[in-house]
Amino acid sequence: MTAPSAQPLLAIQALRAAYGKIEALKGVDLEINPGEIVALIGANGAGKSTLMMTIFGKPRARAGQILFDGRDITDVPTHEIARLRIAQSPEGRRIFPRMTVAENLQMGADATDSSEAERAAGLDRVFTLFPRLKERMTQRGGTLSGGEQQMLAIGRALMSRPRLLMLDEPSLGLAPLIARQIFDAIRTLNRQDGLTVLIVEQNANHALRLAHRGYVMVNGLITLQGTGTELLQRPEIRSAYLEGGRRA
Ligand SMILES: Nc1ncnc2c1ncn2[C@@H]1O[C@H](COP(=O)(O)OP(=O)(O)O)[C@@H](O)[C@H]1O
Ligand SMILES: [Mg+2]
Repeated sequence: MTAPSAQPLLAIQALRAAYGKIEALKGVDLEINPGEIVALIGANGAGKSTLMMTIFGKPRARAGQILFDGRDITDVPTHEIARLRIAQSPEGRRIFPRMTVAENLQMGADATDSSEAERAAGLDRVFTLFPRLKERMTQRGGTLSGGEQQMLAIGRALMSRPRLLMLDEPSLGLAPLIARQIFDAIRTLNRQDGLTVLIVEQNANHALRLAHRGYVMVNGLITLQGTGTELLQRPEIRSAYLEGGRRA
């Protein structure tokens, strides 16, 4: 008897999206299996953030399909996506600057109507990963350092008990040591909690070392895919995204 083939947690097929006349996604195919970390790399303007935002319905897909756990979610309204337990930490770590750390984290739990027990367990997990957030619970989000704000953005996403966590450029603008802490936390979440992760990064070196598989996007299309190790060895990746680029 053969084992049933695992269904991808996320399957994106021939996805197109545009801003007015600007076609940002021109037919993208991408899959994420349960328990995988998948990296999406590519130059500025390639369409990486648009891909993540289209999963949330902003902008809406113009063609193609997004399947989550086998269900077609292409036309699910933005406010209902979080209830499906897809969470994101958007580019620029959009936390609520006037709210405290505690309130920001509660917002994450509210997105999925979590029970008290689930909130407590979520907080516990976030504080184990990012002890600094515990020390700063009553501090306003806007007064945190860049690294702490990124931790808070990820923490808030985790409070919604995601089945899929999507991170848009989590290391952007962070000192190397802090960036490393963020990547370590993502690895821990994947290994210990089995969390499935899509990570968008310009830091291709870091991202491909972390990821099981990666995709390269150029001008709204996927041009290469493979395991993280394979992609790190490809000469075209080395010249375009590694050598002379930002290094770990
Ligand atoms: N809100 C927007 N309005 C118009 N064009 C946009 C908008 N956001 C992104 N774009 C354009 O879509 C393309 C893809 O952008 P983006 O998805 O942000 O790329 P990346 O995240 O890979 O840097 C770019 O040409 C960008 O200028
Ligand atoms: Mg982007």
